Amino acid sequence: MTSATESKQAVQPLELPAGVAGQVVPIIDFGSQYVQLIARRIREAGVYSVLVGPGVKLEQLKALSPRGIILSGGPSSVYDDNAPTCDPRLFELGVPVLGICYGMQVGCTLLGAKVKNAQAREYGGVRLNITDTCDLLNGVPANTTAWMSHGDQVQQLPDDFLSLAATGTCPYAAVRHKTKPFFGVQFHPEVTHTPHGADILGNFLFNICRCDGSWRMANYLDSEIARIRQTVGDKRVICGLSGGVDSSVVAAMLNRAVGKQLTCIFVDNGLLRKGERDFVEKTFKGHFGLDLRVVDAADEFLSDLKGVTDPQEKRTRIGHRFIDVFKQASANIDGANFLAQGTLYPDVIESGHGYAGEAANIKLHHNVGGLPAELGFDLIEPLRNLFKDEARKLGEVLGLPKQMVWRHPFPGPGLAVRVLGEVTPEQLDLVRDADEILLEEIVANNLYRQTAQVFAVLLPVKAVGVMGDGRTHEQVIAIRAVESRDFMTADWARIPYDVLATISNRIINEVRGVNRVVYDISSKPPATIEWE
Ligand code: XMP
Repeated sequence: MTSATESKQAVQPLELPAGVAGQVVPIIDFGSQYVQLIARRIREAGVYSVLVGPGVKLEQLKALSPRGIILSGGPSSVYDDNAPTCDPRLFELGVPVLGICYGMQVGCTLLGAKVKNAQAREYGGVRLNITDTCDLLNGVPANTTAWMSHGDQVQQLPDDFLSLAATGTCPYAAVRHKTKPFFGVQFHPEVTHTPHGADILGNFLFNICRCDGSWRMANYLDSEIARIRQTVGDKRVICGLSGGVDSSVVAAMLNRAVGKQLTCIFVDNGLLRKGERDFVEKTFKGHFGLDLRVVDAADEFLSDLKGVTDPQEKRTRIGHRFIDVFKQASANIDGANFLAQGTLYPDVIESGHGYAGEAANIKLHHNVGGLPAELGFDLIEPLRNLFKDEARKLGEVLGLPKQMVWRHPFPGPGLAVRVLGEVTPEQLDLVRDADEILLEEIVANNLYRQTAQVFAVLLPVKAVGVMGDGRTHEQVIAIRAVESRDFMTADWARIPYDVLATISNRIINEVRGVNRVVYDISSKPPATIEWE
């Protein structure tokens, strides 16, 4: 049945961090928009979870010694041609399987149930009536709310299944098989709109799969540090430090693992926020005592940007110059074999390297700040199994200042994409000063942690104003403040008017050359977070 190439692929082991074997709960990803959320919920419960594509081989799953397996939701219909499915032998492994939404429909179909298009689609919060609280739904009130998002549903259930819950229009909203360890929920326990979702996942993980719940960031740190030491041996490691959360956590981690063999390179491209270089120097040279090389390349970057107004052209030039500068700086470091990078798990998934999942086609749309493979280093990516919030937790465990761990993201091309039009030193100073005031007020009003990103943009127009008896003709600052989970979608933050008023007054009074401040109230989509 399997061809030679297929059986060769079958022996490819899936990547796991050290010390989690036997306690892993993999998720087979059928393309659900919530799949990463499921993984995060499971990890938050102290159980390590990985995402695998529907093409995963049974042998690969078995090699993980999984404690349980989850089948995710997805946009397909089980009765479509080429609908993704799983190996039916999965239900014979003796490992509990939980199907969520489409995953429930896949499991039920393979075990003899009939899935059809429902007469009434269910979307959003619906009343769930629970009829069996023996295992999966243990401790959940008989009447509760569950978040639904489906057009198809299980409509005929064979006798060897038990129904656990129903809604007004969905007769089998939760089920279990009587003899095989298969459970299914038509709703989404991973979203916060299902109030008892965490209890249901907890029942699956702890009462059904008997996970020990011992996955902790501190253990992860210990095992990754041991792994880094083993990989690096007595060689040198270079780490490109940007001042952002990910590279900072990597630097702190490498410092703990191989301290004296680490050199960090920080490129000052002249496009940084005010005080940024000092902050990075203070943290890493001062606090951690790292070998930090600061390369001042502002003149080179600014001369590349002279006369350039097209945003993509700005990005390309900055990207090329960054690679040149980094190459040169790293050539001065003798005996360096390794380059440490802050690649996160979502990047691994999105670039399709982690598994052949549905999300594999989503390309990262920004790659400025990336380094090409031909630099000739072996890569060390200690965050490649972690989500962003887990990387932040790791940063805290490593003793990074809170201010660094909880930083908003800052784009690789920096202020060059926040000075609209041509980038000049004068324009950079204007936006830098406005940005500093804006962030001071956001922090002072306790709004930093509630927002995902806040920054100032300098518009390339002049507006008329009055000052004293005369008219002014000066520039406009736009304030962008957004709330977002993943930066793929975002909504403008409802900053209180009084705070906006203070920000506006301060910028207009304190930043020479600005006489107007506007607030951006666009959501993404259709707008983007940055203006360029
Ligand atoms: P957009 O503007 O696409 O931004 O909604 C989404 C997130 O990406 C950041 N961003 C960039 N990051 N290089 C980067 O490293 C870039 O060229 C770039 N452009 C946007 C943006 O700040 C937001 O966090």
